[in-house]
Amino acid sequence: MENNASQDALLKRREFIQESGRKALGLAGLVLLTQCGSADDEPGAFNGSLSLLAPEGGSVLRGGLVFDITWQATGLSQLKLEYSSNQGQNWNLIASNLPVSAGSYAWTVPNEPLETVILRLSGVDNPAAEVQSPAPFKIRYNYILRETEFPALTTVGGFASVDISLLGSFIVFRTDSDYFALSRICTHAGCDVGWQAAQNQFVCPCHGSRYNAQGQVIQGPAPDPLAGLATEYEADLEAVLVFEV
Ligand code: FES
Repeated sequence: MENNASQDALLKRREFIQESGRKALGLAGLVLLTQCGSADDEPGAFNGSLSLLAPEGGSVLRGGLVFDITWQATGLSQLKLEYSSNQGQNWNLIASNLPVSAGSYAWTVPNEPLETVILRLSGVDNPAAEVQSPAPFKIRYNYILRETEFPALTTVGGFASVDISLLGSFIVFRTDSDYFALSRICTHAGCDVGWQAAQNQFVCPCHGSRYNAQGQVIQGPAPDPLAGLATEYEADLEAVLVFEV
């Protein structure tokens, strides 16, 4: 009798161990399934595609003008567009709720000199969808001389003199076919040279240097010509843009 009782106990113990093992295996299988589940199945996962086509890394955008930012995307309906000029530490909103189907956004580029700018494009309906510029681009400051403010530039031979902190003092001339601009900062010690139209020369009030109308030194002590600035006529704005070369 004792042998039968101990065999029963042994049998029950085996069944208990086997049942516990089955339960343990079942639990492990459940964890394994969760761990192996595709990321696409998780809430917020992104199954589509998102890419930023323009601007390209290394390009130079002109401040104050419109640039078309372009993208390609699938699996999203609306996008948010931002830019950063400090390696992504801070983001400035450009536009939100942009329809993906538009494929582009006409961005009025901020008119300030920025050396390392990146864009971030993300899904409004799915924040897991995000892409950034693969490499930074630059923004060049433009000084915009509107003809309404500088009417002398609408006449051949006219000129306008400007002094602003981002470009220093400079002068813009209207020629018969174009415009050109020169810095008015003397290359000797930085005084502002004055344009003497009657003599067709720039004269420095500090130590007497003289430059011809093209900025070449014709009398020292100035060691170098006046620096040139780039110009461009923007018909849409009816303005002359001046910017660093
Ligand atoms: S600063 Fe112009 S000549 Fe010296």
